[in-house]
Amino acid sequence: GRVAVFMGGDSAERDVSLKSGQAVLSALLSAGVNAFGVDVQGCLLKTVEQPEFDRVFIALHGRGGEDGTLQAILSQAGIPFTGSDVMASALAMDKLRSKYVFAGCGLATPKFRTMTSAEDAISIAAELRMPLSVKPSREGSSIGIFKVISADQLVQAWQAAAALDTSVLVEEWIEGPEFTVSLLQDRALPAIGLSTDHVFYDYDAKYLADDTRYCIPCGLSADEELRLQQLALEAFRVVGCRTWGRVDIMQDADGKFWLLEVNTVPGMTDHSLVPMSARAAGISFEELVVRILADTLE
Ligand code: DAL
Ligand code: MG
Repeated sequence: GRVAVFMGGDSAERDVSLKSGQAVLSALLSAGVNAFGVDVQGCLLKTVEQPEFDRVFIALHGRGGEDGTLQAILSQAGIPFTGSDVMASALAMDKLRSKYVFAGCGLATPKFRTMTSAEDAISIAAELRMPLSVKPSREGSSIGIFKVISADQLVQAWQAAAALDTSVLVEEWIEGPEFTVSLLQDRALPAIGLSTDHVFYDYDAKYLADDTRYCIPCGLSADEELRLQQLALEAFRVVGCRTWGRVDIMQDADGKFWLLEVNTVPGMTDHSLVPMSARAAGISFEELVVRILADTLE
């Protein structure tokens, strides 16, 4: 069969996705898979009208490609694709609603509120402890995320986040360290500890800075890392994800872990985290990509 690697797209994470997609495509080609790349722009329906492929490796990040929209179109067209189904993709993309599910399942996630108007700043500032993190609910790569320390700043950050999404999430800031756990074929890979001189692991720290430090082994004791991996796996399961993903988790000063989010199409660029974890587990980038493809949803 012929495999199309979907990449690019028109989300805010287009540039990241082009890099992920190119890396996935070269790995598939060197593994001898009959694959080609498709830069998916504009109407997704056109892409599947008369497909010249019979499977899709989804390397699209953000809205349109990672949020269930594309997964629905491919399901409808009967074309198998990698990763999570419609429901899990849509839920994982929505940080606010993911937190309702985490909280409902008793999984620790920073205390939060949704913010729908500037007036909400007063009650939110009274209920949550500063500093706060303000996030568009359905973005990726830390786009549109702000740290605030006052109700005034909260209003400003809300305006900026609301320009990116109709749904805005405000949660208590956990200073960190931040950890990330990659999941492959429903098993946790070695965790990575992240540290940066930026205020947090933001877009620049992720893709531009060369002073971001990735610790693998992550620096936790074996018992703690196991707890971290179990939390990640539970988050992955309650959201209903499959095959692969990455769960971002903060640790507070008391050592407690707090779930931030699940990513169903994590970055696959050359300095991305899932490939790094896989490598630590003895899985090459090529093998990683082949394994994800082998698990394609029919
Ligand atoms: N949203 C980016 C691509 C990630 O989670 O890696
Ligand atoms: Mg994300």
